[in-house]
Amino acid sequence: MNQNALKEAVALAALDYIPENGILGIGSGSTVNCFIAALAPKKHLIEATVASSVASYTLLKQHHIPVIEFNQASGIDVYIDGADEINSHFQMIKGGGGCLLREKILATAAQKFVCIVDESKMVKALGNFPLAIEVLPMAQSYVARELVKLGGLPILREGFVTDNHNIILDVHRLPLHEPIALEEKLASIPGLLDSGLFAKRPADSLLLATTTGIQTKERT
Ligand code: 5RP
Repeated sequence: MNQNALKEAVALAALDYIPENGILGIGSGSTVNCFIAALAPKKHLIEATVASSVASYTLLKQHHIPVIEFNQASGIDVYIDGADEINSHFQMIKGGGGCLLREKILATAAQKFVCIVDESKMVKALGNFPLAIEVLPMAQSYVARELVKLGGLPILREGFVTDNHNIILDVHRLPLHEPIALEEKLASIPGLLDSGLFAKRPADSLLLATTTGIQTKERT
């Protein structure tokens, strides 16, 4: 089974988690794109979706799935998203697609966060994947210097502008052995809008696609 088939399989399995007559938060990325396609025939079961990116919004619209603005939603019942890495505590590195700021808002607001990944994303320790950081453009140099002080090597994602008109620094080599403390420290840097470290708000459920089937795990 190739990686794409695993993504399609886990996307189908995630249909069991859609909130009947509720608001469904939609993440971003290729696994979520598979989920949006799988959701299309079931769209009558939910009230509406809220998208974490312009790309997901556009795809939802193409599938005629109802989408509302987050400001119009009374809350998010379930949020479904992928990840670049996830550990056994269901803490994640996200943001490979550069949508981390809106993703973190929806994930944090959600009653339940369901992470859908293929087995290549499951790691013992977070940190092989560079940590994406969304930064206000005028603060790029200052934030980069602060990241170097923390032990990181920030690299500007060339030619990339986020949906919020900001830049992304991909940070290599950041010490990630205390993810919650690091996430808080990063959030305290002015001009640093958010990081792709999802430690304070881990996933509640993990759907893991393996070559032998879908594993479903709940955070304990
Ligand atoms: C986008 C994300 C994605 O969830 C993450 O990059 C995984 O993407 P994919 O499903 O394409 O592997 O955080 O900002």
